[in-house]
Amino acid sequence: MIKFLDLHKINARYHDAFQLKFQEFLNSGHYILGQGVTNFETEFASFCGAKHCIGVGTGLDAITLIFKSYIALGRLNEGDEVLVPANTFIASILAIIQAGLKPVFVEPDIQTYNIAVSELEQNISSKTKAVLVVHLYGQLADMNAIQKLATKNNLLVVEDAAQAHGAVYSDGRKSGNLGDAGAFSFYPSKNLGALGDGGAVTTNDADLAEMLMKLRNYGTSSKYVNDYLGYNSRLDDIQARFLSVKLAHLDADNAHRQKIANRYLSEVKNPKIILPLCADWKSHVFHLFVIRVDHRERFISFTKKHNIEILIHYPIPPYKQKALSHYSALQLPVTDRIHNTVVSLPISPVMEDQEVDYVINVLNGF
Ligand SMILES: Cc1ncc(COP(=O)(O)O)c(C=O)c1O
Repeated sequence: MIKFLDLHKINARYHDAFQLKFQEFLNSGHYILGQGVTNFETEFASFCGAKHCIGVGTGLDAITLIFKSYIALGRLNEGDEVLVPANTFIASILAIIQAGLKPVFVEPDIQTYNIAVSELEQNISSKTKAVLVVHLYGQLADMNAIQKLATKNNLLVVEDAAQAHGAVYSDGRKSGNLGDAGAFSFYPSKNLGALGDGGAVTTNDADLAEMLMKLRNYGTSSKYVNDYLGYNSRLDDIQARFLSVKLAHLDADNAHRQKIANRYLSEVKNPKIILPLCADWKSHVFHLFVIRVDHRERFISFTKKHNIEILIHYPIPPYKQKALSHYSALQLPVTDRIHNTVVSLPISPVMEDQEVDYVINVLNGF
């Protein structure tokens, strides 16, 4: 069986280092916002090339708290509109709504699956104040064009980089340092994944960073002094220590993913399979390798028969979910087409060459 993602095998590479980190953690006697978090925040800010990193509880919280911080700073107001790609994972939308803002669903580009810049402009109204760019499946969005539009229309640019740790833009900057603030998830299956939940915000804005440090910790400015209606959303110290171990290997892991993706792109030759458009190697870290097929059910039973585990990211677009039923009348044909045809192939930093050979052979026989 070719697993979609073998998390045990991914983390087994670090068992000894994790044991040491756990001993250090235990011995520290300081289990919330201790040295593990401070160290990881410094390392991850430096990795992304950003001035600040603030560890939080989850990727969802990272996005939500960025927006809540902008509201607390008076740079956004409740009810403001935020542009967001319609084909993103539900968390991007939940964050906007839970911060008291209004999502405006924008159609993606059918080839890259990222927000279509031409569609962005058409959706800007007098109420639009921000764009939540999602680097979906690990590929950076067209940031130069988006930034230009944002500057022209005075919009904040927030990156949902939950799937794109370590992706490098054409000018050398990395995800998390391409907008006003970047949100990351360290959910175990991510390119940089913890052994539990975790998230972080990166930014070069000192005021935003200070507000995030307060909001993640009950709105506290100093012990038992509460300036804001805050939350409890802190990156767990033991997870931060594990993440420090894995961060050192992130670039190598991403390179392995890119190598597999390169093989899929050049060796899968089947007119029934539509391969993704990858504009530039370094800007795609292939959190997922997503193809499109017209007869998805048939494709999935074929791969299953050949012992290949396939997943769908994502079967139902957010605007068609029951939880968002008041958006269900929207007309988003490109989004629908993507959700009806996408399938994700196995890809991971521990996938072996012969497993890739096998997947390619099976796909070419479909
Ligand atoms: C694009 C995107 N945004 C946000 C999130 C939310 O992250 P988390 O699961 O850590 O809350 C995820 C992943 O789960 C994601 O894929």
